[in-house]
Amino acid sequence: MSKEYNLKDSTSQIPSSEGFTTSKRLEGIGEYYFSQKLREIDELNKQGKNIINLGIGSPDLPPHPDVVKVLQEEAAKPNTHAYQSYKGSPILRNAIKDWYDTWYGVTVNADTEVLPLIGSKEGIMHICMTYLNEGDIALVPNPGYPTYRSAVKLAGGVCVDYDLTEANHWQPDFAQLESQDLRKVKLLFVNYPHMPTGQLPNVAVLNKLIAFAKQHHILIIHDNPYSFILNESPMSLLSLDGAKDVVIELNSLSKSQNMAGWRVGMLVAAKDRIDEVLRFKSNMDSGMFLPVQLAAAKALSLGKDWYDGVNAIYQARRIKVFELLDLLGCFYSKNQVGMFVWAKIPANYKDGYALSDEILYKSNVFITPGGIFGSAGNGYIRVSLCGSVERFDEAIKRIKN
Ligand SMILES: Cc1ncc(COP(=O)(O)O)c(C=O)c1O
Repeated sequence: MSKEYNLKDSTSQIPSSEGFTTSKRLEGIGEYYFSQKLREIDELNKQGKNIINLGIGSPDLPPHPDVVKVLQEEAAKPNTHAYQSYKGSPILRNAIKDWYDTWYGVTVNADTEVLPLIGSKEGIMHICMTYLNEGDIALVPNPGYPTYRSAVKLAGGVCVDYDLTEANHWQPDFAQLESQDLRKVKLLFVNYPHMPTGQLPNVAVLNKLIAFAKQHHILIIHDNPYSFILNESPMSLLSLDGAKDVVIELNSLSKSQNMAGWRVGMLVAAKDRIDEVLRFKSNMDSGMFLPVQLAAAKALSLGKDWYDGVNAIYQARRIKVFELLDLLGCFYSKNQVGMFVWAKIPANYKDGYALSDEILYKSNVFITPGGIFGSAGNGYIRVSLCGSVERFDEAIKRIKN
């Protein structure tokens, strides 16, 4: 297990002092990088360092006030506190249907093709638990969101990387994909706009991917939480011909509606896929608090003004991030979208970890090393746009000093 995915190796076979051992499935699963790093930053803050954290993509802006109002009003009612349907409230499912129609031009059936989730992260685990048997292979992007990898392993599957490179515009290399033994491959994770590189979706490549999945009987999991951030043309993979036959799409209100802490996501797919995942998920949780679902429905009904307002703020911040990266001598594309800026580090640093540590310990600014997203990210760093312009100015000042 490499450093980038696993800072604290599992000690499952070594009993604790009380004699307890953790399960075998936790072997090789480390504590999530950010959970460990945030503790270190906490420690540094206790020493008075006042670290500027430009690492995590957790929106610092609030949701629309009307969304908060719905939550408050609904939570104040006496009859909104019971367990909820496993399939989610029909009001939220219909709001998801309308959202897909309005923004992605995708028609879905609100009763059968939509499943609200308690954040899209849990959906990744549910999908792995639903489809993977011991030893089944899931293809995961390198670099990519680390949760794909851990969820596959926790479910007993095996991760095989497919490399995304700058030279190939961070798109899958079909020659590499086809050259492998694909017989045990059951799932393929894909994510455009891509995190961490900010690469936009490319329709021709995605059409090829659908054909590839059909040919080899592979289920594509498209993770789509960033489609509205700094992107004028939000796209769903389900808008492509024949996609519903082989695609499950995950989506989220965390980033586009500034609701990361509310934990609202969704899974959109053919009826059979929804039923299959629900067989697992309905054994895991008992639905989502109704006022949260109703407020989420409100959030999904917001118009273009909402997205434009959020994006104007990210735009101004991104200019500051470019300035900060110039100061560090990094190289980056100005065509990236999403909530981060991905940048290649200067040649005098061994890797992104070295640059990240230097800035953390010398300037009290934390920037994510690209290696946590996989070995192909080693020569990069990722800066989050979730901080005010003033914080970026302060970070620039500290680094200059
Ligand atoms: C690529 C990607 N997918 C999924 C998620 C999880 O989002 P959610 O808050 O909906 O669980 C994140 C969160 O950072 C992400 O970056």
